Amino acid sequence: MPTTILTHRGDGKVSPAGRRALGHHLPGLRQGSGHGAKAAATPSPDITAADIVAAALARLAPVAAHRTAAVRPRLARVLEAFAAERLGVHHFASVSGYGHGDLGREVLDRVFARVLQAEAAAVRLQFVSGTHAITAALFGVLRPGDRLLALTGRPYDTLEEVIGLRGTGQGSLAEFGITYDELPLTEDGQVDEAGLEEALAPPTRMVLIQRSCGYSWRPSLPVAAIGRLCERVKALQPDCVCFVDNCYGELVQEQEPTAVGADLIAGSLIKNLGGTIAPTGGYVAGRRELVEMACCRLTAPGIGSEGGTGFELHRLLFQGLFLAPQMVAEALIGADLVAEVFGGLGYPVNPAPGAERSDVIQAVRLGHPDRLMAVCRAFQQMSPVGAYLDPVPAPMPGYASDLVMAGGTFIDGSTSEFSADAPLREPWVLYAQGGTHHGHVALALERALVALASMGEGGAGGASSPRSD
Ligand SMILES: Cc1ncc(COP(=O)(O)O)c(C=O)c1O
Repeated sequence: MPTTILTHRGDGKVSPAGRRALGHHLPGLRQGSGHGAKAAATPSPDITAADIVAAALARLAPVAAHRTAAVRPRLARVLEAFAAERLGVHHFASVSGYGHGDLGREVLDRVFARVLQAEAAAVRLQFVSGTHAITAALFGVLRPGDRLLALTGRPYDTLEEVIGLRGTGQGSLAEFGITYDELPLTEDGQVDEAGLEEALAPPTRMVLIQRSCGYSWRPSLPVAAIGRLCERVKALQPDCVCFVDNCYGELVQEQEPTAVGADLIAGSLIKNLGGTIAPTGGYVAGRRELVEMACCRLTAPGIGSEGGTGFELHRLLFQGLFLAPQMVAEALIGADLVAEVFGGLGYPVNPAPGAERSDVIQAVRLGHPDRLMAVCRAFQQMSPVGAYLDPVPAPMPGYASDLVMAGGTFIDGSTSEFSADAPLREPWVLYAQGGTHHGHVALALERALVALASMGEGGAGGASSPRSD
């Protein structure tokens, strides 16, 4: 996509015009109300952060229109599911205690199954997080002596302790006698299709496919590619369970992995499907017997999916699902905007603005911890909650690296409103996600540009030489 302010040569270097802008204009940025594309077309010393962001938005208009148009079919699927299950206000109540025979929960499960194009689903506030839902799926299905094979390289950080790659004495899969192997990604971050047959030579009970990039510099895996992968796995080992970590991927594409051959998927409700208002929770979806096995791990063998109160909160889960297609589309436009703005400044971004996406994550290689901190601080200042807080890198349960997080969201830990975080490790990549309205992302970006510019006037690793790292 052409950039009009800071020309990007496509080889990771910034053209003289871009360098000029970075070296002289950015440090002098004013925070003002710009006039978008008009101002951007002619770089001048008076250019403002608002001008840069508005120009990026203008360039992205066709992409944004495309993302917005995709809301309709996905929302139609949600509405059809509500209608087919005859959703009514009586489903908002919950049975307390055991939660046996809870009509609201049963309808919720069936609605999610329809939306996720799966045979069955279990949507539970008792799932603490996506990690917990994934863990229930793994422990629910795998038995001692089974082999688990990750097909998308090293799984997300929090699964290392679950699998037993890090930490001991916590009852990991390894401690229960489940063996684990992984097929590393190719250098360009793709699934190693050539190595698949050899990797699947030993009997394998389950393959783990991670749809989203997580904290790694790789493209998200399109649902169609997941489908092809599942087909190849089944051809080699028909009884192998294809499990997909679906975190951050829901509703990004027209189909979900369960529509194209995945046997089981899991994810969090305080990401895409919660539409920013689900207070907590997660889901598993897929083949009925596998969903039940995961639920037997969440609750107890014999109880499975039939217990667990909704704490009178079902309305929020239905309402969040209703809002989710729009929220996801806005988050995608926000991700494109982050990519366009930082890419325009010459920072490597992944994926490129307007690229096909299978998750809502936007990675930006900032190349220096000071820049990471400056951008997180700026985003935090533009967060709806906790704008007065200063993000400080800190250890986080489940993660080996300290994390810095700009996440002033209404639901604690949710990444649905625009937020960003990063593990404190080289190459200092910022992962941004969420954004209920892309106007919010635009405001946060303006603040970040000003912060980077002010570093150029004396801060360590200033914005005047971002790409030399
Ligand atoms: C790909 C992926 N899987 C799993 C998780 C874990 O989800 P949660 O933070 O809800 O435990 C994340 C979190 O960012 C993720 O990105």
